[in-house]
Amino acid sequence: MTLKEIVEKSRRIVFFGGAGVSTESGIPDFRSADGLYRQKYSVPPETMLSAPYFHAHTEEFFSFYREKMLPLWAKPNAAHIKLAEWEHAGKLLAVVTQNIDGLHQAAGSKRVFELHGSIHRNYCTSCGKFYPAQFIAESTGVPRCGCGGVIKPDVVLYGEQLDPDTVNGALAAIAAADTLIVAGTSLTVYPAAGFIDYFRGENLILINRDETPLDASCTLVVHGKVGEVLGALPSFTENL
Ligand code: APR
Repeated sequence: MTLKEIVEKSRRIVFFGGAGVSTESGIPDFRSADGLYRQKYSVPPETMLSAPYFHAHTEEFFSFYREKMLPLWAKPNAAHIKLAEWEHAGKLLAVVTQNIDGLHQAAGSKRVFELHGSIHRNYCTSCGKFYPAQFIAESTGVPRCGCGGVIKPDVVLYGEQLDPDTVNGALAAIAAADTLIVAGTSLTVYPAAGFIDYFRGENLILINRDETPLDASCTLVVHGKVGEVLGALPSFTENL
């Protein structure tokens, strides 16, 4: 069956995505040739994005974070838009994403499980007060709350735990899906990459530019750009 035929007959689609879903919005991914982790820094980006580094070198963390992790100019692309349409049409149960850019919600998706958090949520580590991403983008040095506390982005840094409610919601959705579409991810970071194992449905589809460890066990593998591939599929909203 073609991707279009599988999607047409699916009733409970879940989408599991990574940084490759946002590259067509202009946000580099991490491990491709032009990815963030390929860029030269005195301290490796994966070290700078870790909890120990955040606590020991907070000012350096925020200068890297502001420069590379706050693409507030980015807009949803055809992939984000199509997924929001499928949810609206009752075809898609949820989006499970490793991304922190908020583009799925910007496209209109409602049930989004952000396994690695979001740049749009920032909290004072002392009093818990909420701050938007813009506040962090406009701050200098270590962003501080009116109470004096350090404001920390609600993103999962290396060495930190994923939010249990988010994990439970994502696993329940994946376990209930009849079709799981995995896209734009190298499937190299755990525990996120292991969530795929909870899928019990009929069609496991992979849409990824490069090969992944999952290729051999999929119903269908499409090596292409996820925005183009999803953009070419029907939205199923015409009969709403
Ligand atoms: N369409 C389809 N696939 C794409 C596209 C695209 N337009 N652009 C890139 N890709 C693919 C690449 O081929 C690559 O396999 O997306 C994948 C992106 O892989 P990574 O850069 O490793 O990103 P991701 O899998 O999301 O990383 C997981 O690592 O550093 C952590 O927390 C970070 O959430 C991130 C996690």
